Amino acid sequence: MCGIIGCVGRDDATLDTLVHGLSTLEYRGYDSAGVATASNSVDVVKTSGKIEELRETLEGAALTGDVGIGHTRWSTHGPPTDANSHPHQDCTGDVAVVHNGIIENYQHLRDELAASGHTFTSDTDTEVIPHLVEDQLAEGAEPERAIRNAVSRLEGSYAVAVVVAGHGTVYAARNDSPLVLGLGEDETFLASDVPAFRDYTDQVVYLDDGEFARLEDKGWTVTTLDGDPVEKDVDTIDWDPEETGKSGYDHYMLKEIHEQPRALRQCLRGRVDEMAGTVTIEDVGDLSPDGVQFVACGTSYHAALYGAQLFRDAGIPAQAFLASEYVTSVPPLSDALVVGVTQSGETADTLSALRTARKRGVKTLAVTNVVGSTAARECNHAFYIRAGPEIGVAASKTFSTQQVALNQLALSMTDADATREIISALRDLPSNVQRILDESTARSVAETYENADAYFFIGRGYQYPVALEGALKMKEITYKHAEGFASGELKHGPLALVTENTPVFAVVTGDDEQARKIVGNVKEVEARDAPVVAISDGQSDVSRYADHVLEIPETHPRTAAVLANTHLQLVAYHVANLFGHNIDKPRNLAKSVTVE
Ligand code: G6P
Repeated sequence: MCGIIGCVGRDDATLDTLVHGLSTLEYRGYDSAGVATASNSVDVVKTSGKIEELRETLEGAALTGDVGIGHTRWSTHGPPTDANSHPHQDCTGDVAVVHNGIIENYQHLRDELAASGHTFTSDTDTEVIPHLVEDQLAEGAEPERAIRNAVSRLEGSYAVAVVVAGHGTVYAARNDSPLVLGLGEDETFLASDVPAFRDYTDQVVYLDDGEFARLEDKGWTVTTLDGDPVEKDVDTIDWDPEETGKSGYDHYMLKEIHEQPRALRQCLRGRVDEMAGTVTIEDVGDLSPDGVQFVACGTSYHAALYGAQLFRDAGIPAQAFLASEYVTSVPPLSDALVVGVTQSGETADTLSALRTARKRGVKTLAVTNVVGSTAARECNHAFYIRAGPEIGVAASKTFSTQQVALNQLALSMTDADATREIISALRDLPSNVQRILDESTARSVAETYENADAYFFIGRGYQYPVALEGALKMKEITYKHAEGFASGELKHGPLALVTENTPVFAVVTGDDEQARKIVGNVKEVEARDAPVVAISDGQSDVSRYADHVLEIPETHPRTAAVLANTHLQLVAYHVANLFGHNIDKPRNLAKSVTVE
């Protein structure tokens, strides 16, 4: 996930407009940034680091031109270096491009372009675009057609903005990554999100997939990639510039919960072949470990517990360890692969566990969200979950993308009998999560139980880590007592805590023996007058014993875990919101914990 801005007709304010726009988009990525302006030539300034560093780099820089594009990056291909920062240029320097998304066929295009003499200066997938445009221009195409033809060759997701020397136009195309036009008087804008230009106009046009836009100071057009005109509605934005960054959501956490369908799609993209029933993940090589040990903390530990079960179910011995405990008594390693699950890639306990494993000579793999993070650099291999930046301290979209990434990892290393069935459940997951986001009654559950003494969460199998995560979310942002249990353990102690003022959230999916056992556990708490909130796909008869049911669609038990968790995220969010807590920055907690 990256942020794009473009503007035409801002005269002397072009550079300020680009940099201000990028600062409102920093939530979309913040590992490097850059701008390009076009007049008779194209000038580019870019740097690794945050927008503040770009500002410093720009001091004294002589950029001219009242047409410009800018970019704030969240790395997907290549670490966050100056060279990998956008904009990227062609060999002549006359074309500059910024891009958000992932170009799946970039390696093929890059090989082809390199063979015909193009020189590449970065590791990015994006850099193929200016070179493709360069070839088209060299063949005599006008810029618009050159760019349309170049973009037609891309497979994957993209929002692209392009400037060309000698042309007062910003060109843009979209496929599966957002872009919106802003229409001012004698000036036009383009961005990944409205806040980037909301200070200058409230008139917007949302681009749809497969559309191409051309922006000039006095006008704009939208066509298909083939050049056929498209009629677009102009919308009026009715929120004010103060609400920037959160795209109209009250909190980053709520926004990030709602970003899950997109994040999951991004995580799956290009890795799963449903027709062939195969999963291929880049950069991991041919790993076929005898056993897997996961090390992780917090939410990532819950994803690791889930991941270990995926491997065990595929016949590979696997265990999840709290990273801080792993180092106190390292288990026998033999030919194990040690996998660090860490959103940030910087958590000290996880790094320490991974370093311990490496010192003992075993292979390590980082499953992380941050390209170029310490875990990614220090491990033998890195596998990226591609969730995009997460600002809220309490992890949400990174947990669900970790779950999906770990499914991909397990499928890529094993021959699961049910691979096709799982792949199809993974494919349906983003739209099923969207359905829950649209229909969940979590808010009314939160209102009913906001004054509970404590909250308990129970689950079995794949739903056990979800119970733990549901409780962790509740603790982190509501500051209320919450615990997650394996539902079979309830009767071995925790049942003593259950009263009529301790709602029990029970995750029950399917109607097999495990489901029947958990329904039995639900009856145990119901008999002690505790309110029951069932998270159910409707297959078992748990609703007979429940005061509330949060419904999920029928799916594979693995993907049901992601869906159930979405409801629990929303319940915790709404309880915390009723208390008016600082949800994005809970007391005493930090996003990235760099001490042991
Ligand atoms: C902190 C955060 C948690 C997170 C944990 C592990 O405690 O508050 O939300 O789950 O670190 O972070 P990691 O970046 O390693 O996933």
